Amino acid sequence: MDLTSIERDALADVERIGTLSDLEAFQTTYLGRKEGRLTQVLRTLGNLSPEEKKQIGQAANQLRALLEEKIARKKQSLEQSSLLSALESSKLDTSLPGTSLTRGHSHPIAGAIREISHIFRSIGFEAVEGPEIETDFNNFTALNIPQHHPARDLHDTFYLNLASEKGGGSQENPWLLRTHTSPVQIRLMQAVKPPVRIVAPGRVYRHEAVDATHAAVFHQIEGLAIDTDITFADLKGSLKYFAQTFFQSDLQVRFRPGYFPFVEPGAEMDVQCFLCHGAKHLKDGTPCRLCKATGWIELLGAGMVHPNVLRNVGYDPAQVTGFAFGMGIERMVMTRMGIRDIRLFLESDLRFLEQFA
Ligand code: DAH
Repeated sequence: MDLTSIERDALADVERIGTLSDLEAFQTTYLGRKEGRLTQVLRTLGNLSPEEKKQIGQAANQLRALLEEKIARKKQSLEQSSLLSALESSKLDTSLPGTSLTRGHSHPIAGAIREISHIFRSIGFEAVEGPEIETDFNNFTALNIPQHHPARDLHDTFYLNLASEKGGGSQENPWLLRTHTSPVQIRLMQAVKPPVRIVAPGRVYRHEAVDATHAAVFHQIEGLAIDTDITFADLKGSLKYFAQTFFQSDLQVRFRPGYFPFVEPGAEMDVQCFLCHGAKHLKDGTPCRLCKATGWIELLGAGMVHPNVLRNVGYDPAQVTGFAFGMGIERMVMTRMGIRDIRLFLESDLRFLEQFA
């Protein structure tokens, strides 16, 4: 057994180790439990004379310690370089452009509700909401539209077959989907004492054939002001301020008589057409299509709250007066933006909606 040649070979081999499996093979070759070259030397020590045993044994053990140390060092450096190369190959490229989020925005109807509420808030109105499922009483009777009143025919109503509960569900007072936001007036006046200044936006329902100008589900905003000295002048001033803020400040408004059972007198308000500015035709001489060459655009219904309505909620018409109004949101947005089909608001078509970003 030539320890010198084992050492020489081992020291040469160790330099050639490039991978962890080379290292394992090296270990087996020299220190392997059965066939290792150095192991074999150590195993034969027993057969030697005490003299030789001491000499060769010492040298062999020194060589084993040396090889073990070389193996440990090599192992450490191999592990380190494999970690480095793993880190290298999976390096995070912070210069890559990220995936940006697209920014959402309000639906045009939600946007208009916010805008209209904001205008009225600036003159002292508070925004409130009422339920979409209403009683026949709140939607009609309390608003001075008794059973068999012809005005009920104008509201094609979805009646609901719901269980009776306090407030509704009986045969005389069935549940329904509100056909307008006016029942919020009733709820509010029943809940608070005058003065009252509110707007009430929300969804309403009509059992109607759907076409470009009619939807079965749409939105209205209701307004109500009650106090001791409210006159028709307050109605006109408030609604004129609203129209000129929502459209354009230089446009005129006009009031025409209009019939709604819950107001007396009742009116409809028009705003001057903002496409032709009331001229009925455009600059090139063609008739104005927005106002159908009338010069005016119909905006809303309004009036002085009918004494019967005040009585129905326990207010005294000798003490308080007030005005109310109601308008269709879709119609306002369609007019202002030149949109011709009401169905677009419900179709969730991004090509339409993204124009309101
Ligand atoms: N509720 C009415 C409708 O849906 C609109 C309306 C008209 C509301 C006159 C009012 C009003 O408060 O005074 O057609």
